[in-house]
Amino acid sequence: MGIRYLEKERLFVLDTPNTTYMIGIVSKEGFLGHLYYGKKLENVTGAMSLSRVNEPPYTPDTNDRDRGSFMDTFPFEYASTNVGDFRESALVVRDGNGHSAVNLKYESHSIEEGKNGLKGLPATFGEQGSVNTLKILCTDPETGLKAELSYSVFEDVDVITRNVKVVNETGDRVWIDKIMSMCLDMEGKSYDTLTLHGSWARERQEDRKTLGFGRFSIASLRGESSHQEQPFLALLEEGANDVAGEVYGFHFVYSGDFIAQVQKSQFGQIRVLMGIHPEYFCWELAPGEEFQTPEVVMVFSDAGVGKMTRNLHFLYRNHLIRNPWLHKERPILINNWEATYFDFDAEKLLQIAREGAKLGIEMLVLDDGWFGNRYDDNRALGDWIVNTKKLPGGLRKLTDELAKIGMKFGLWFEPEMISADSDLYRQHPDWAIQIPGRIPGRSRNQLVLDISRKEVRDYIMEQMFRVMDSAEIDYVKWDMNRPLTDLASAVLPGERQGELSHRYVLAMYEMQERLIQRYPALLLENCSGGGGRFDPGMLYYSPQIWCSDNTDAIERLKIQEGTALLYPLGCMGAHISACPNHIMGRNTPFETRAITALCGTFGYELDITRLSDEERHQIPTQIHIYHAFQELIREGIYYRNASYTKNHQYDCFQVNNKEATTVLIFFTQVLAEANMHSRFVKLQGLNTGKRYRIREVNLQKGDFMKDVENIVLKNTVSENMISEKMISENIVSGDILMNVGIQIMRLNGDFQARLYLLEQMDEG
Ligand code: DGJ
Repeated sequence: MGIRYLEKERLFVLDTPNTTYMIGIVSKEGFLGHLYYGKKLENVTGAMSLSRVNEPPYTPDTNDRDRGSFMDTFPFEYASTNVGDFRESALVVRDGNGHSAVNLKYESHSIEEGKNGLKGLPATFGEQGSVNTLKILCTDPETGLKAELSYSVFEDVDVITRNVKVVNETGDRVWIDKIMSMCLDMEGKSYDTLTLHGSWARERQEDRKTLGFGRFSIASLRGESSHQEQPFLALLEEGANDVAGEVYGFHFVYSGDFIAQVQKSQFGQIRVLMGIHPEYFCWELAPGEEFQTPEVVMVFSDAGVGKMTRNLHFLYRNHLIRNPWLHKERPILINNWEATYFDFDAEKLLQIAREGAKLGIEMLVLDDGWFGNRYDDNRALGDWIVNTKKLPGGLRKLTDELAKIGMKFGLWFEPEMISADSDLYRQHPDWAIQIPGRIPGRSRNQLVLDISRKEVRDYIMEQMFRVMDSAEIDYVKWDMNRPLTDLASAVLPGERQGELSHRYVLAMYEMQERLIQRYPALLLENCSGGGGRFDPGMLYYSPQIWCSDNTDAIERLKIQEGTALLYPLGCMGAHISACPNHIMGRNTPFETRAITALCGTFGYELDITRLSDEERHQIPTQIHIYHAFQELIREGIYYRNASYTKNHQYDCFQVNNKEATTVLIFFTQVLAEANMHSRFVKLQGLNTGKRYRIREVNLQKGDFMKDVENIVLKNTVSENMISEKMISENIVSGDILMNVGIQIMRLNGDFQARLYLLEQMDEG
């Protein structure tokens, strides 16, 4: 069942298909030691020696004199505090006297089939038989504080998830000043760290550096996971790359303040910690109360970063995302944001929708600006009442018109916010998060609602439901456009103000849960000023997240590469937008923009009525290609082949079906070079002994419109789906494609993208 307890050795062995994780109960005192995490071990004899407790003088119960040395070097499963381990602690709990020592010892354990949810928090899940859970109960004997360490071991993917629950059995009130969801002590080795940093419009860029002595951390204190740092950290053994070497990945299933830290100690030992950031956090626990941490996903790969990525993709598709749209073809939408910003009325929207419908677009998404006095971004958040000057007859009238042309409808909300210039704020100024007597930091002139208060979130949800019930709404974009600052709730007592950030995240999860429970068929897309809340926590509620406000095809190569490092392509909100790009001012070919959007959820974000005829004529071809390949892109296996962020010239990745009989290659030549030869780009995961027919999918065929009606659009890639007009042909063995590469001819010009289809040939 993936989890064993070896009674004689006092050893826990946790096995996924290709990895082993071991914990030992060490010494008479019952210290819990981390013994091993890595490649699967068939035979674990001698595992206890990995704790090094026999190495003098570090034996706690036989040599009390040097107990301090033991604390500072022992590989703790969950690190102690203030008792002599001078490395970073995992748990700091203060009592009424201000004392904060914690030293956890093993008390008991249970091994359970399946995996429970985490109350109020997003978490991975699994069908019976696909996951089992080990719970180890530890106690601090001096205070009676209990901590339950939970490990869920998946049978179908190389992932172990962890979380911690603290129970206050001390008999008195205590305060949690810090609580990590995981701690991992590893033997010293030379590692690099890999993280994703960013900024607004420049999210999730890979950053790799050598790990030195001391502490390295990434974090968010913005109340959301943030554009700036992804709640992810990987350790790569020296020399590891996309296809080779040992890699440990840690990803936090949480959407608020976090810290991911790695420390290299005096002896080169490594400690990894991940959890809620302690800076603005303090949680009071009355006697008998408990605190549940969010979950951390741990993955080990012995074959480079790519294998880590594929494990995470599998986990999120099969064990995290719940939305019924996960495995369904998403409607092709057109969003009016970059087309009109706030300057629209019903007629303008209908013009866009009618032109879109003619070309095959299936849904109109009405973005910001449809409510209250919202003529710009300085006002009206919180006043969720349709602006009937812009939309006479309300949403119902608009959706009735859309229904006539067969268009679905989606709507934008920013439920967590309140504008200072809003009726809601005039009525309830205390509903905003702000510190009395201090002018609050504003961004877009808006404040954050104190949704930790039940009456506030109830009010907002009622307003949303009233709008949702007024028309047929198939899709919601849930936006969040500023971070949390000036943390203070008008209702929390002084000593509990440190709970606000976490209470806020729990409240936001509760609101999203209420929305999807009430509208189970709803397609929900999360968003935060672009991709500021693209994290595994949000994926539990929505199957897709808007990647970035930057829709420039070339910038998107980098953003989407970083995003796809962790998330399946089907989660990445990606649209074709107009040129010059609204953020970069750059012009890129229409087909390059299409290929970049095709590897995500796909859609349009432009004024379709203002496109040139040449561009407009390409849209049915793009839509046809989306229908043909969306299932492969959504469900397929992703391999990164070349990175523009590293080579500064071209980008290439592939998506294989499960059997590697159908493969789609996305290639972009960012910069042209004079007098250059063709390139060979090595492919991955093919059947080496087989031959593949390679065809180029041509997105430029303006006259392809005529063919569209004659082609069967179904979710399989088959001969009759790709018009012969769209392709040129070539046959090469899997062996050559993997070991030498696919030959890509020099393309003429900068920013040129191509899509290649490989199909394994029937032999004989
Ligand atoms: C930020 C989002 O990322 C955009 O797509 C758009 O919805 C704006 N907010 C609207 O204010």
